[in-house]
Amino acid sequence: MNIIISKTKDEASKKVAELFASDISGGVIKTVGLATGSTPLDFYKYLRAAQPDCQAITTVNLDEYVGLAANHDQSYSYFMHEHLFKDVAFAKHYLPDGLATDSAAECARYDEVLAENPIDWQLLGIGGNGHIGFNEPGAAFDGKTQRVQLTEATLAANARFFDSIEEVPTEAYSMGIGSILNSEKIVLLAFGEEKAAAIKAMIEGPMTNEVPATALQNHANVTVFLDEAAASLLTK
Ligand code: F6R
Repeated sequence: MNIIISKTKDEASKKVAELFASDISGGVIKTVGLATGSTPLDFYKYLRAAQPDCQAITTVNLDEYVGLAANHDQSYSYFMHEHLFKDVAFAKHYLPDGLATDSAAECARYDEVLAENPIDWQLLGIGGNGHIGFNEPGAAFDGKTQRVQLTEATLAANARFFDSIEEVPTEAYSMGIGSILNSEKIVLLAFGEEKAAAIKAMIEGPMTNEVPATALQNHANVTVFLDEAAASLLTK
C-alpha cells in the first residue's frame, strides 16, 4: 500500500483530485467506482472546480440504502447528483436500486453491471469499524453484491444525516469485497481521529474479516490518502 499523509483533509482531497485528473487524462480509464459519505466531499468539490473531461467515463457506486427512492434527499443517488453528477458530465451512472422489489435479482443485476464495466479506479472511504462499501465486520473477502444489514455502529454514524436515528435505513445494497478487489486501482481516503483505529488495523493489523478493509492488504495497487489525525496511530 502507498500511504500519503497530508496535514489536512483539504490538502489530501486536492491531491486526490489531481491524481484522478492525471489518471484519467490518458483515456485508459473507462469506469470509476465512487463512494458517498462525508469523506469524499472535498474531493468532489475539487472535481467540480477542475472540471476534468469525464464524458467517456462510466461511474459505478458502491452502495445504496434499501427503501430509499433515487430522488430521496438521503439516497446515495441523490447525493451523487448533488455533489458531482449535476456539475461534471459522465457517460453513464450505475447505482443499486434502493426500491428494487426482488433483492436477489437486484444483486444479480448489479453484478452484471460490474462484469460489463470492470472498475479501473475505485474510490473508497472507511467506516470507524473498518467497513468498506457497506461490507460490515464478518463480510467475506470474495463477496459479490449483497443486501446487507447495517451494524448499530454504522447506523449511529450515519444518523447525523437524518432527523433521528430511527429514520436511518437499516439495510443497504453493497458491492461485495470481492468486486472491490477486482478494481485495477484503489484509492482510499480517511480523515479525522475517528478513523485512526480502523486505519491502523487496515495497514498494520492482521488480515481478518472482522476488519473488512484489511482485505486491501491483498491488492497490488492501493493508495491511501490520510490527514494527520487519521494517521495518528500508525507506528511504522
Ligand atoms: C459510502 C460507503 C461507506 C463510507 C464509510 C465512511 O458509499 O461505502 O463505506 O465510505 O461509511 O463514511 P464517511 O465518509 O461518512 O465517514
